Amino acid sequence: MQYDLVIKGGQVVSGTGTQKTDVGIQGEKIVTVADGLRGAEELDASGKLVLPGALDVHTHFQLPFCGTVSADDFTSGSRAAALGGVTTFIDFAIQAKPASVLETVAARRAEADPKVCVDYGLHAGITEWNDERAKEIPAIIEAGLPTFKMFMIYKGQGWQSNDGDLYAALRETAKYGGMVGVHAENNDLIELLQAEADRDGLTGCYTHTLTRPDITETEAIARAINLAEAAGGTLYIFHMSTGAASDILRDARAAGIKVHAETGPHYLLLDDELFKRPDGHHFATCPPIRKPADQQRLWERLADGTVEVLATDTCTFTSEQKAMWNGDYKAIPFGMPGIEALLPLTYTNGVGAGRFSVNHMVALLSENPARIFGLEGRKGKVAEGYDADVVLFDPGLKVTMSAETHASKCDYDPFEGTKCTGWPVTTLLRGKVIVRDREFVGKPGDGAFLVRKPPAFVR
Ligand code: URP
Ligand code: ZN
Repeated sequence: MQYDLVIKGGQVVSGTGTQKTDVGIQGEKIVTVADGLRGAEELDASGKLVLPGALDVHTHFQLPFCGTVSADDFTSGSRAAALGGVTTFIDFAIQAKPASVLETVAARRAEADPKVCVDYGLHAGITEWNDERAKEIPAIIEAGLPTFKMFMIYKGQGWQSNDGDLYAALRETAKYGGMVGVHAENNDLIELLQAEADRDGLTGCYTHTLTRPDITETEAIARAINLAEAAGGTLYIFHMSTGAASDILRDARAAGIKVHAETGPHYLLLDDELFKRPDGHHFATCPPIRKPADQQRLWERLADGTVEVLATDTCTFTSEQKAMWNGDYKAIPFGMPGIEALLPLTYTNGVGAGRFSVNHMVALLSENPARIFGLEGRKGKVAEGYDADVVLFDPGLKVTMSAETHASKCDYDPFEGTKCTGWPVTTLLRGKVIVRDREFVGKPGDGAFLVRKPPAFVR
């Protein structure tokens, strides 16, 4: 039989093993993984790793936030994704009150659908919990959004939920197999520390970290876990930043509580000394980047499987937008670019540095997020029946990261000058080559909205 496309002779990597073989693709699907395949088109993958496309389950493209709109839109952001070997991202439809969540989803899809270059889904952001919201839950899940986000901070933005809201949402979504993710920081404590900083005349960038010490995350995460247990819900912790929180997570999971968590490359590789630099505000995100000891513990918890997902929280602001801070740390637009670097940074610093195997990397970037976010059987594996989202990865290619060469619209790169060994060279989305030899050859509209199913909780 002749397939439409065959990837020949690469090392095909899964979460459990690596095998030198061929991948046969028919239309949008992988139909065979076996030796000696022939195709109408053949891609030589000798010397390359053949990886499932990565999933980045935490992005904020063209997000109205902090008085501006994040600079990478659905096209520039998803083009950067493709170049970085990310073939699926999950962004957010954050309820724009007084609109309902479903109205917000429709508006967000109208923005994204024509612009996306890779496949995408949306989490449903709930900013107002009431009877109407509770009634909406089954329809939101039916529309393909089985995962929700609630914010334990961002009162000023009008996004913050209280503990009762969070408990009720965990209880309600559980009835339909949904999962609630949280931005876990203690707003009251942060406000208190900010008021004290005001009193002391502190406004500089380092005050961002001084007013958000570890306890502001650990307390909120512990509280969310307690609420999830009591409500019988499933909890996801977005952007976990501290080593201490990862201990709380480990104990909760050991106690049988249904909780998953992600961390991101910025928490693993950047530390809060950066806030002392003149461009320190470029690195300001919430929760803040932490200390080397936190990085160390988060790496360990990724390696031992406690933290199951790596995601970027991409929320790009240019230096012009970041300049809005004007010397006041509270006015910084919070967020950074990151999606293009997710896979190469993880490979270099995780696999290359000997922290975990390439198979474990595939679990963190592809298999686990696909399973946890309702895309199992479709995304996350190079295996028969899966979408042909495949990355040819050159493990020896040396790339120095720079704003000069990255695809993001950002005019700085948080990892400027960082040397990576290993970089994706070719990306396929559902059987179509969208990056060939590091050149983007796809187009807006190549990607599609993913209707996701409620995921079963698997420990
Ligand atoms: O500072 C951040 N993380 N910006 C993006 C919005 C969020 O909190 O996820
Ligand atoms: Zn957040």
